[in-house]
Amino acid sequence: MQLYLAPLQGYTEFLFRNAYARHFGGIDNAIAPFLPSGLGVTVKHRRIRDLWKENNGQIPVTPQILGKSSPEIVPVAKYLFDYGYDTLNINMGCPIPSIRSKMRGSGILAYPDMVEMLLEKLFNDLQNKLSLKIRLGNESAEEVKELIPIINQFPIKELIIHPRIGTQMYEGMVDLDSFSWCVENAKAPIVYSGDIFDLATFRRLRNQFPSISRWMIGRGLLFSPFLPEIIKKNDCGWVKNELHRFWDFHDDLEEQILTFRDRPNNQLNKLKEYWRYFSQAFQDSETHFYRISRTTDLNSFRLIVEQIQLKGIWKAGLGETDHFEFIKSL
Ligand SMILES: Cc1cc2nc3c(=O)[nH]c(=O)nc-3n(C[C@H](O)[C@H](O)[C@H](O)COP(=O)(O)O)c2cc1C
Repeated sequence: MQLYLAPLQGYTEFLFRNAYARHFGGIDNAIAPFLPSGLGVTVKHRRIRDLWKENNGQIPVTPQILGKSSPEIVPVAKYLFDYGYDTLNINMGCPIPSIRSKMRGSGILAYPDMVEMLLEKLFNDLQNKLSLKIRLGNESAEEVKELIPIINQFPIKELIIHPRIGTQMYEGMVDLDSFSWCVENAKAPIVYSGDIFDLATFRRLRNQFPSISRWMIGRGLLFSPFLPEIIKKNDCGWVKNELHRFWDFHDDLEEQILTFRDRPNNQLNKLKEYWRYFSQAFQDSETHFYRISRTTDLNSFRLIVEQIQLKGIWKAGLGETDHFEFIKSL
């Protein structure tokens, strides 16, 4: 079994990936958050900083691009392959309305002819070096039934599926019936991505889809960075004795953010953003996050984090969680 770190734009960039790898195990691969298309025919090295070799090396990483035409994807792909990457993931799943409406991300899924044309052109130029990340469709899960036969024509390295449709964003339940149809009909190896927030959910999914061996974890890892290890060990009882690792990781991440981000406001906002998720590991998460979100300087932020460290009660990963309620409110 392989566990993948999901791309989470704004969260799982190299600072996070490296700090994470220094304190936690369990992750075998990461897909980097998407590079915007429009990097130009001549790619500027500074614009792919998240993928620089010197910024990576702990967790194997695959770059991802959000684009809908070969002229915007091929130059970036060639640059990355020359630089040493051997796979590029194409993002056909981003649900943000302003992106979808331009036929990018999940927006392209409603146009199977365009998907076919794009893949034909890309595979002419880039041969066997592409993987895809898709949803079940943009507006309907029926769309995937037209898409999979098209995708099957190409030697896709792997197919990552988030079993929602674009218009759902992250709301509602994942559609496991439609995902099951994909498992039966897709030729490429499938990576499952969606709502793995605790061991119980992972066990249920693994039992339902025994042929899947690649699982992707996104928000669940931000809720509880222990989750990949919990899944690999098939046991969560040990976490309560190792909570110090979360705080070490937190210090490390804070230090990275302070080193690599310039302005104090930027630094604080980034730290606060992570707590949108980290707070969910604790009882009274809303109060914790509310207090953190109100801080206006690093010292008061640190003070509240220290109070949580002293008095907060960890709950994530110790059994069924209530993250489903939380994500509805995001
Ligand atoms: C804040 C945020 C940022 C995301 N950024 C990306 C991205 O850059 N590329 C991508 O393919 N998916 C992106 N996703 C989708 C995730 O990779 C993942 O498929 C989705 O969150 C479902 O998995 P999860 O329930 O384990 O988080 C993002 C999701 C969130 C919530």
